[in-house]
Formats: sequence, C-alpha cells, structure tokens
Amino acid sequence: MEIIIFETQQELDTYAASLFINLVNEKPNAVLGLATGSTPIGIYDKIVESYKEHKVSFKEVTTFNLDEYVGINPENDQSYAYYMNQHLFSHIDIPAAQTYLPDGMAADMHEESLRYDTMLAAQPVDIQLLGLGHNGHIGFNEPDVHLSGGTHAVKLKEETREANARFFASMNEVPEYAITMGVGSILKANTLLLVVRGADKAQIVKEALTGPITTSIPASLLQTHARVIVLLDREAGRMLA
Ligand code: GLP
Repeated sequence: MEIIIFETQQELDTYAASLFINLVNEKPNAVLGLATGSTPIGIYDKIVESYKEHKVSFKEVTTFNLDEYVGINPENDQSYAYYMNQHLFSHIDIPAAQTYLPDGMAADMHEESLRYDTMLAAQPVDIQLLGLGHNGHIGFNEPDVHLSGGTHAVKLKEETREANARFFASMNEVPEYAITMGVGSILKANTLLLVVRGADKAQIVKEALTGPITTSIPASLLQTHARVIVLLDREAGRMLA
C-alpha cells in the first residue's frame, strides 16, 4: 500500500487527476471506476481542466460508478448520475453510452445487480477511485457482520443518511436504500485509489489502513489488495505514524 500525504488540496487533486490522465494517455480504452461524494469533486475539476487543454481524450474510455441511490431518477439533481454529468461527463468527450452507473430506478434490484456485475466482468476496471465514509464504508458497503461480494441493494445506515443529508433539502428526502458494487467487485480492479480528506476521518483512516481486517470496517478489506494507492490530506493522515 502506497500512502501519500499532501500539504494542499490542490496538490492532492492534481496528483489524483494525473493518475487517470496518464493511464488514459497510455491506454485510450481504459476502464475507470468512479466515485461520488464531496471528495472527488476537485479531482474531476482537474481532469476537466486537462481535457480542455487538449492533454487527454476520453472518446474510448468506459466508466463504471460505484453506486447510486434507489428510487431517485437520474434527472433528479440528487442522483449520482446527475452528479457525474454535472462534475465530469458533460465537460469531456466521453460518449454517454460508455458511462455506466447502477440503475437506481430498476424494477428488480437483483436483476440490475446481475446486469451490472456481468458488464464489470466483461470490462474489468483498471483503476477504481474510492472515497471513505465516516463509518469505514466504501461505495455504499456498510459495516456489517458479512459483506456482499457482488453488486447489491443495501439499506443505508442512519449515520450514512445523516452524513449525506447535507446534499438534500431535509433528512426526510435522503433515500433509505442504495445499490452499490460489492467489496468483491471493488477488489477486482487492477488498482485502487483511495482518497480521503479532513480531520473528521483521521481515526477511521488509521483503523481502516492499519487496524485488523474486519467487515465492521469495510475499507479495511483494501489491505488485502496488491495495488492500493492512498492519497490523504494532512488532516486525514494525522493519526498515521
Ligand atoms: C457516500 C458515497 C461514498 C463516499 C462517501 C464519502 O456515502 N456513497 O462513495 O465515499 O459518501 O463522501 P464524502 O467524500 O462526501 O465524504
């Protein structure tokens, strides 16, 4: 596991974006695993900046997002589909047909999960971007006594709904369910890129990266992967020796 701690957000975002840009320049049909939340926004901004400076093209790239809320339409500005268009897809030259998210409006979540896993198996992810929940979740894989390998629907923990309530008008509007890649699917990516910011995540960063591997901290499973890059700001990394 390679852990890099950055002094400024600017440096972290630039470095993370360069990993994607360099990969796409070396492998134009790369498969990128993408994430949402507040953490990746600056990274997407840097990627868009490079695209606008003609330093990279995404015409042949395919993307898979980690997760989506259940019951929120893609046109709804709270959906992760909307987020991805707003922060990345609408600003670059990637064809919409090559951008995949789990369908949170699917009638049958089990069928939708199988469909997503079949696509992932056909196009393995080269690099998967990951944020970290305060309770150690990755994607929407919540702490539990067992974890699912493949894509699945999940009931969100109250703490997760509360953490994400800042993006909604009120707590009542925060969905109760989401559909997410499983930890097994995430671990199949060639490279995992975990990005964490902020003092409020310093403790969980320490536990996830240096503590025992446990399903009660899903991100601790990353310790089993052969190629993990962790990018932290000073605050998130302050409890690491
Ligand atoms: C949500 C997402 C996760 C994300 C997490 C942290 O729960 N499903 O993929 O990593 O939030 O979000 P933030 O970066 O806003 O702290």
